[in-house]
Amino acid sequence: MSVHEQYQIHLQQLKSRKQSFVETIYAQGNGHLGVRASNPLQGNSPAYPGNPGLFVNGFYDLSPIHYGEAYFGYADSNQTICELPDPRYLIFSVDGVRSDETPYQVEMTDKTWDMSTGLLLETFHVTTPTDKQFTLTMESFASQAERHVYVILYDVRALNFSGPLTIIKQHAYVNQQIPRDNNDVRRAQRDNVLQQTYLPAAAPTMQFSTQKSQLSLLMTMQYLGSDPRVQLNAHAEVPNYTIKLELTPDRSAQFTFGYSLGEIHNLMSFKLNQANYIEKSLAHLKNQTFADLFAASAARAHDFWQDSDVIIEGDPVLQKGIRFNLFHLYQAAGRDHLTDIPAKGLTGSGYEGHYFWDTEMYMLPFFIYTQPQIAKALLGFRYETLNEAGQRAREMAVKSGVLFPWRTINGQEASAYFPAGTAQIHIDADIAYATDQYIQATADTDFLIKAGFELILETARFWLAYGNYAEHGAQAGHFVINRVTGPDEYTALIDNNYYTNRMAQHNLRLAVKYAAELRKLAPNKLAELAVTADELAAFKAAADKMYLPYDKKNKIKLQDDNALNRPRFDLKNEPATNFPLLLHYHPLVLYRYQVNKQADTLMSDFLFPLDQDIDQLRRDYDYYEGITTHDSSLSRAIFSILANRKHDSAKAHAYFMDTALTDLTDLQGNSEDGIHAANMGGSWLSLVYGFAGMHYGTEGLTFDPCLPAGWFRLNFKIKYRGRQLSIDINQNEATFTLLSGEPMTIYCQKHDCALSQQMPNTVALEKA
Ligand code: BGC
Repeated sequence: MSVHEQYQIHLQQLKSRKQSFVETIYAQGNGHLGVRASNPLQGNSPAYPGNPGLFVNGFYDLSPIHYGEAYFGYADSNQTICELPDPRYLIFSVDGVRSDETPYQVEMTDKTWDMSTGLLLETFHVTTPTDKQFTLTMESFASQAERHVYVILYDVRALNFSGPLTIIKQHAYVNQQIPRDNNDVRRAQRDNVLQQTYLPAAAPTMQFSTQKSQLSLLMTMQYLGSDPRVQLNAHAEVPNYTIKLELTPDRSAQFTFGYSLGEIHNLMSFKLNQANYIEKSLAHLKNQTFADLFAASAARAHDFWQDSDVIIEGDPVLQKGIRFNLFHLYQAAGRDHLTDIPAKGLTGSGYEGHYFWDTEMYMLPFFIYTQPQIAKALLGFRYETLNEAGQRAREMAVKSGVLFPWRTINGQEASAYFPAGTAQIHIDADIAYATDQYIQATADTDFLIKAGFELILETARFWLAYGNYAEHGAQAGHFVINRVTGPDEYTALIDNNYYTNRMAQHNLRLAVKYAAELRKLAPNKLAELAVTADELAAFKAAADKMYLPYDKKNKIKLQDDNALNRPRFDLKNEPATNFPLLLHYHPLVLYRYQVNKQADTLMSDFLFPLDQDIDQLRRDYDYYEGITTHDSSLSRAIFSILANRKHDSAKAHAYFMDTALTDLTDLQGNSEDGIHAANMGGSWLSLVYGFAGMHYGTEGLTFDPCLPAGWFRLNFKIKYRGRQLSIDINQNEATFTLLSGEPMTIYCQKHDCALSQQMPNTVALEKA
């Protein structure tokens, strides 16, 4: 297989050609916009099986949540990412028959996504109702260099006729409101009603306005070229480009269209600045060619791979699968400090485009260590929404600190089901944990002072105010945190969730630690944030007294105070068709049993490796593996990492293989609704924290590598405090190379490895 080929995803290699699945797999994005890879000639046939569309990160509408019984403090509005018109869409007219009125037969003959450049190349075989046949080829990309831009080059070639063909290119909604079975809570539950207005401009320009959130966005379409056959009808009722061609089989006709998707503005600001925004939008594409725009974008994609690529030798399918995951993560991540990563990336409307803890705990490490500027922008989103989180804490009667929303686009809570939503207050500690990881890995003290410390402080304040010192029972004298839901959504509203308490403890300690650092770096900041010595002492005391439930008899960490008093769910005898259980059981049924949707207590074993010895890890693992269904795609990566830690390489590999290929193989059966972004981040975690055994601890960066049988090599790079390192592992040795930056020491299986530039250090690996 050529090196280039290893970055390509071919239609022929996909498990399924189901239209909606293919649309997700080949979706193009750049953190601002995402376009599903639709059939561009779908017409308005309700029989079209796909779900085409375009998403702009952070462009959403609100709709009231209707509760049967609406209690105080329930989230009041749904936030739903808007599905915008498909920019790939075009209309053909042959022999007076238009493809939007009478469906043409369109067969996907080829798709190749070259992730090394980000270019998607597709071929369709088209047959008109009058049996005229031609090939439609498309080259498209979402620009990685100019995030507002998406570009398509169409190439049309007649196969069995010579004669006229008319192409019409316009903004239009097609097939996006198809009613479908919607009994799956993970799908978007609402269609949004967008107001669309054509604005007078030098190219077809549409303004989208949302009704309730009062947001506005511009989409302009421009023909990029000078072919006189392309006619702009700027004043038509539906402004469009019309292209009249005389086709012959020996010559194809080519046209490039560029789309610009502007910034999101509130309606009022939009009205005041409309002319200016239109001008800006058109300027992105003015005098541009496909070649220039593509060269700039491909150069960025190249830079991405330079820093973020992972090489696996010994399993070519997996190699591709990993690259597929990494590039999708890159395509999904907001980079403007105002947006985050939707759980489905920008590839679908699943989970309504919401941001979850998925970002901080599953995806951020990849960005922290390979694209730290993106990690910073993502944490920046949390910082920008501190006020909303403060208000939410007050609504929840917590007197100080902030409570971040479980799921959101605009910073407010959007979960209508609080037992598995708002109650997951661990989100606060997740954000603090990730902030610390970012600061540790980058030494970005500027971010610490401007935003990071406040994130850690305000979340610590929340814990202190939310929890309390217990007076009775085994918990007496301890700091406890009651009525919460941990990561496992099959166990809700429990007392002292191990993960939550351990993370809160860490959060409180981080506040104390960074306050001490700020005393030296920026003492004014402490005064500005009203941090007192008493408060820091209270943080420390609560952390020291944090209750961490433990079963002395079985010597396992307990998911919560009452975990073992619930009967075990009989997973062995449950029919395979009943998974995921959430689609077959009322939540209260699941809450009564020992049954986990995903890693919960084990998340804590993963994040705090120094907390337990290997025997403790083994006991925890065996117990929780027995009650976990992995109904969430966030689960297997963690089981893989911990299997590695307990030196069970075969199991680590098995879990990892399911994780790595979740979307490419449609493991969960719902990739059509969008990628599983957290799981993709999880595959990087499994490689780096699992097989390479990386850990950032008190002594710095440590590695404990072990490759599964059959892999010859694992190679990746990380950035660390102004340096870049290459880590190259094979079955027998690990080689660490400092590619840039100051000398440093890392640790590999208890060996000190002093690194200086271009002096690789190789360690012979001990087998477990
Ligand atoms: C998982 C959550 C996750 C959410 C979004 C749910 O199925 O249980 O942990 O945050 O999906 O990915």
